[in-house]
Amino acid sequence: MNYRHVFHAGNHADVLKHAVLLAWIEALARKDAPCFVLDTHGGRGQYALGEQGAGPSGEAATGIARLWGQPALPPLLKRLCRAVANFNPDGRLRHYPGSPRLALAALRAQDRLAACERQPEEAQALRTALAGERRATVHEGDGYALLRALLPPAEKRGLVLIDPPYEAQEAEFPQVLAAVEEALGRWPTGGVAVWYPIKRRRSLSPFFRDAARLAPRGLLCVELLVRPDDSPLRLNGSGMLLFHPPFQLDAMIAPGLPALARLLGETGASHRLAWLRPAP
Ligand SMILES: C[S@@+](CC[C@H](N)C(=O)[O-])C[C@H]1O[C@@H](n2cnc3c(N)ncnc32)[C@H](O)[C@@H]1O
Repeated sequence: MNYRHVFHAGNHADVLKHAVLLAWIEALARKDAPCFVLDTHGGRGQYALGEQGAGPSGEAATGIARLWGQPALPPLLKRLCRAVANFNPDGRLRHYPGSPRLALAALRAQDRLAACERQPEEAQALRTALAGERRATVHEGDGYALLRALLPPAEKRGLVLIDPPYEAQEAEFPQVLAAVEEALGRWPTGGVAVWYPIKRRRSLSPFFRDAARLAPRGLLCVELLVRPDDSPLRLNGSGMLLFHPPFQLDAMIAPGLPALARLLGETGASHRLAWLRPAP
């Protein structure tokens, strides 16, 4: 397994994923009842962004750096920028927090996070990043197997984030959907968010069709294409399947998408928000 998220930290896919994750957590926090977040593919929790001139080098330069310092961002993006700013107190964008740290920062005192990571070095870095945090546990191992051990939690509310590296490309989809089925079967009151890469959208139709069968309480799809999906070799965009999203999460996401496509996209960029299965 060669994947290292540090090369991609803060790119357009992270921006979409983390903006949606924070919106979901904010929606959950409308009620006092405690929440649980399970991050099955947690990564190392925090990433140092290389610097070049005035800003970060690497993929963050065309991702989070394009939102940094922008005035009048919509709430979906402002919320993410504020959260990232807390990890860069001197105002220079040098660190990008991963999903476990972002989630934990958004969760309240009564909430909990469990994060899994299979690569030992990344898992050790994640333990260090979350050291001293009594609301969080780190589990080294296969996130798909650990999901069975960690669900259901005592909390009724919350979400499972499934964010694999897709090293096996589309061969990962059946495993992802099996994990969704397992999660919703074990924890019917929770929700699941799955991130997926987009090279060519049309090849994703069977994935969407199978996903919709698993979501009696609604399946929302949100996508950002930073360029047309006409090359099968590039990450042209990404999306998230949101199983059983909280009430009005779609309304929290929708106004942010045009700005995301405008600020992060090239010619031909686009966005989509659609119910693949309506909420009852
Ligand atoms: C896309 S990165 C995760 C990024 C993280 N969720 C974030 O948003 O900051 C995927 C991570 O999953 C890890 N990984 C790969 N296969 C795994 C598995 N079966 N179980 C748990 N972690 C795995 C990789 O080492 C990598 O750190």
